[in-house]
Amino acid sequence: MDDNNLDEFKKEFDKHLIKFFEEIEMEESLKEALSYSVRSGGKRLRPWFIYNFGKEVRVSDEELIKVGIAIEILHSSSLIHDDLPALDNAHYRRGVLTNHIRFGEHKAILAGDYGFILPLKIVMELNNLKIENKMVLTKYFIEDTLKMFEGEMKDLIFEKEDIEVEIEDILDMYAKKTGAIFGLSFSAPFFMVGENLLGERMHEIGIDFGIAFQIFDDLKDRLKSQEELGKDTRKDINKKTLLNKLNFKEVKIVADNYYEKVIKDLNQKSYSAVVKKLLGIRNILESR
Ligand code: IPE
Ligand code: IPE
Ligand code: MG
Ligand code: MG
Repeated sequence: MDDNNLDEFKKEFDKHLIKFFEEIEMEESLKEALSYSVRSGGKRLRPWFIYNFGKEVRVSDEELIKVGIAIEILHSSSLIHDDLPALDNAHYRRGVLTNHIRFGEHKAILAGDYGFILPLKIVMELNNLKIENKMVLTKYFIEDTLKMFEGEMKDLIFEKEDIEVEIEDILDMYAKKTGAIFGLSFSAPFFMVGENLLGERMHEIGIDFGIAFQIFDDLKDRLKSQEELGKDTRKDINKKTLLNKLNFKEVKIVADNYYEKVIKDLNQKSYSAVVKKLLGIRNILESR
């Protein structure tokens, strides 16, 4: 598989994703709703990290793709629920109607529920991993999913209960709602081969990347159009984001600092090949 370019990776990865949903046995309405959101136009950034770091520790393509599919289903499910009327109330996602607008809230809620557990089943069924490595990987899938829920809860109560927050509270919320799943994406390949100490460090670096990513996302919400992003924009006006606390220029500096720290930490770990690719997709992070 060509792993150099995010768009090329996506093309190849999406073939596996389509095959996965063709082959899986699941109730038809759930399959239709869940696969609709997973298969529509996501960037596949999280599987891309799994793939690229996985190559560094020589995990097979087959296993990396499976874990990539698991993480993309988890991430897509978080988006299905994030878009619900009771949460962010969004109408467009990944260039198409959101799941609840397309299928109704009952199906969107259940498709999201299904997509939070299905990744664990995929991980449990990896048959080329040592049992102890699979246990560690599963533990991180569970813990990071829970962290993501905690971050989503913080995001929503900050907004809906109009809670007074400091910059640190917002960064902590970002670390959970977005950082946790990137932490999982950076570290999963290392846990797959039993490199647990290194995995824990990669997990921390992934969280920092997730914080930078979320800040870029906040900036895009204000600067880009719905057509460019494929999702609702200007939805964050009542949200507690860094933009409530700092001006544009200052927020951009915070994001750049996190991003540069990630680059520095990855270089220190000698993952310069991944750094090169990460620098290559910098414009994508700020534009879509
Ligand atoms: C959107 O994530 C949600 C955030 C965590 C900000 P992405 O920007 O990776 O969304 P897709 O997967 O490309 O649709
Ligand atoms: C989504 O965060 C992050 C999740 C964990 C689901 P946002 O609500 O900020 O992301 P968008 O702007 O809807 O993609
Ligand atoms: Mg949200
Ligand atoms: Mg949202």
